[in-house]
Amino acid sequence: MAIIITGGTGMLGRTLSRRLAAQQPVSLGSKDLDIGDAQSCDAVLARHRPQLVLHCAAMTAVDRCEGEREAAFRVNALGAANIAAACARHGARLVAFSTDYVFAGDLPRPYREDDAPGARTVYGASKLAGEQAVRELCPDHLIVRVAWLYGPGGPSFIHTMLRLGTQDGPPLKVVDDQIGNPTSTDAVADALMPLLQADETGIMHMSCEGEVTWYRLALELFALRGFTRQVIPCTTAQFPRPAPRPANSRLEKGALLLQGRPSMMDWRAALHRFIKDYPHG
Ligand SMILES: NC(=O)c1ccc[n+]([C@@H]2O[C@H](COP(=O)([O-])OP(=O)(O)OC[C@H]3O[C@@H](n4cnc5c(N)ncnc54)[C@H](OP(=O)(O)O)[C@@H]3O)[C@@H](O)[C@H]2O)c1
Repeated sequence: MAIIITGGTGMLGRTLSRRLAAQQPVSLGSKDLDIGDAQSCDAVLARHRPQLVLHCAAMTAVDRCEGEREAAFRVNALGAANIAAACARHGARLVAFSTDYVFAGDLPRPYREDDAPGARTVYGASKLAGEQAVRELCPDHLIVRVAWLYGPGGPSFIHTMLRLGTQDGPPLKVVDDQIGNPTSTDAVADALMPLLQADETGIMHMSCEGEVTWYRLALELFALRGFTRQVIPCTTAQFPRPAPRPANSRLEKGALLLQGRPSMMDWRAALHRFIKDYPHG
């Protein structure tokens, strides 16, 4: 199967490119293809004639998006629209990745695929607009929402903690009132592989099972790596950021369950595997 991976130089794109190496996917970074340019997207699909496009490219720096609205919408909304339109035109199936940030994050339970979105950040709003474009422009699509993602090479919270954990200094304050499902790119790849040739469409959540706060996640990581620097809990209010962070990022995996697919790996098992495979991230 001919496959194109956008965002092939990013965390998820690198993992999927490696996982699909036997099929020699065309893996593209922003220097190879600017997804904000409709003609370039069309030309790339016309040249490679893929049956499948894994759309991982995005502007993911949440705080940067908050200050650069136009750039965020150009990549996350217009870019997704350009890829979706090109897929529809050239008969390719599209798997487009999205985020828990499409939700407001104030529900007292994990978000279901069909819960009403309510993005509170520029990043979330731009990704939500991207989802809408995919739905409207490319009938053969699967939108996969992931959350609290980390993968080899980073950047991610795990990579920041791996760096800070080896440095001497005062106790590290880490937020303890935001909850989510830390998810490795390998766990996403595991769940995605059986779906590549399937015909599921719509939205599917893919985050690791189990839930934890950032603080508890840091404690688990430090224990795993034997870091002795102290970590102490703090509140979101004590750690203000340009873009507001959702208090609840948990995603329910109803669509995977309904399709009879294996459930996602537990977050702790995924983290242990990651540190075993990539001790330095
Ligand atoms: N990171 C997270 O915590 C997280 C959480 C939830 C959902 N997600 C979603 O998961 C997916 C993968 O995220 P990730 O963390 O793997 O991303 P990432 O590591 O930040 O990589 C982003 C990728 O997008 C590419 N890109 C940026 N602007 C582009 C443009 N104009 N044209 C073409 N490519 C462009 C980058 O290319 P260059 O590097 O070559 O510039 C890079 O390959 C995204 O849809 C993201 O929204 C991520």
